[in-house]
Amino acid sequence: MEVSIIGGGYAGLVTGACLANLGHRIIIIDKNTEKVQITNNKQSPIYEPGLENLLQQHVGIKLHATTEFDSISSSDIILICVGTPSKSDGSIDLSYIKSACLSIGSTVKNNCCIVIKSTVLPGTTEKIVRPLICMASGKSEKEINFAANPEFLQEGRAIEDFMYPDRIIIGTNNLYTRKQITKLYRGIYAPILYTSIPIAEMIKYTSNAFLATKISFSNEIGNICKHLNINTYEVMKGVGLDQRIGSQFLNSGVGFGGSCFKKDLSALILLAQRSKEDPILLQSVLDINTCQPHRMITSLENKLGNLSGKRIAVLGLAFKNKTDDIRDSQTIPVINELLQKGACISAYDPMAIKNMQQVFPDINYCHNVIDALTNADGCLIMTEWEEFSQLNTEFNVMKNKVIIEGRKIVSCKGVDGICW
Ligand code: UGA
Repeated sequence: MEVSIIGGGYAGLVTGACLANLGHRIIIIDKNTEKVQITNNKQSPIYEPGLENLLQQHVGIKLHATTEFDSISSSDIILICVGTPSKSDGSIDLSYIKSACLSIGSTVKNNCCIVIKSTVLPGTTEKIVRPLICMASGKSEKEINFAANPEFLQEGRAIEDFMYPDRIIIGTNNLYTRKQITKLYRGIYAPILYTSIPIAEMIKYTSNAFLATKISFSNEIGNICKHLNINTYEVMKGVGLDQRIGSQFLNSGVGFGGSCFKKDLSALILLAQRSKEDPILLQSVLDINTCQPHRMITSLENKLGNLSGKRIAVLGLAFKNKTDDIRDSQTIPVINELLQKGACISAYDPMAIKNMQQVFPDINYCHNVIDALTNADGCLIMTEWEEFSQLNTEFNVMKNKVIIEGRKIVSCKGVDGICW
């Protein structure tokens, strides 16, 4: 099939590369010329395991990136994969969606299927996307097809998630679109749930809200276990063996970061409040997550006293391992608090230093763990990078061997976990 993808970010690029791998002809449209050039040079503008390999195989043959919307006129399917960031009040910013709709509308062909993959609140496709595209194209709702097909890709394992998903959700109200999208995923073996557009949109929010709830729940239990001197990881192992609960997303520590959970929870909370609901559980999920990074600092102060002038090694800047993404990373509030308290920071991350330099240009970034740890008064482990799991004698170069763990990745003795 001829597929155009609007937005060459994490979701758009991974989706494009994987669909090319399934045999479709893909055009990725992104307004960022640098990103387009890098992609057409068969390199990945982001770090995502396996992505560059797929680009090497398919760019120039089945996949092409461009800043122009010309390809839209021959596309069977158009996937909208643009960002839906938060506004300052927590509500969803639809400006990229709206501008994509106007550009699509100018050249879309009859009977094309327009599929929203971006995370949008229930009602957005029917109340905003559809009218805008119909207005811009001058076509009626019968001449263009619409669907919501949310993505569930996790950064750091997005290719695997795409190729082996737990489920595919297809929200549409017409049979032709259902068939077209099913054809798009031919070669992927997963249960498909056909549903309405608003339900598909709501499934995405509910999934992210539930995963975030599991994490905050585990953090609350972990915070209690810490006082009781009980190993919360053993507790959650026992709890997760119950198939009704499941063992994933029960890791306590510094909490969730990333561009999705906080943003989606905030948007859902606001939507609920506008409907005169008081979503106290969802609000607590966010509140617990906001407090967890502060516990890293409290634990450090309990061991070191006043942090002013102390050298603190911060290991891990990315919001999770296997990515260079620092958006909403829990390391950001930790660095902010350390700076407020007058600490000197030596930071290290295998992938994310360049991105964190945009947020904190003036802290000291190190090329490796040893440089960061040398003469440090304390160390904070912030990201679950595999290479941190091997650390042991490396900590001997510290002035004081005070190590506070936010991810339970380090296995050597003498490490103090915030929840264990
Ligand atoms: C999340 C969802 O997992 C995806 O299904 C969804 O498609 C995506 O958001 C999205 O909406 O686009 P992602 O943000 O990439 O994916 O990363 P996750 O693996 O979910 O991790 C999020 C955060 O939770 C990370 O900071 C991670 O360290 C933390 N986490 C995860 C925990 O603190 N404990 C856990 O047990 C698991």
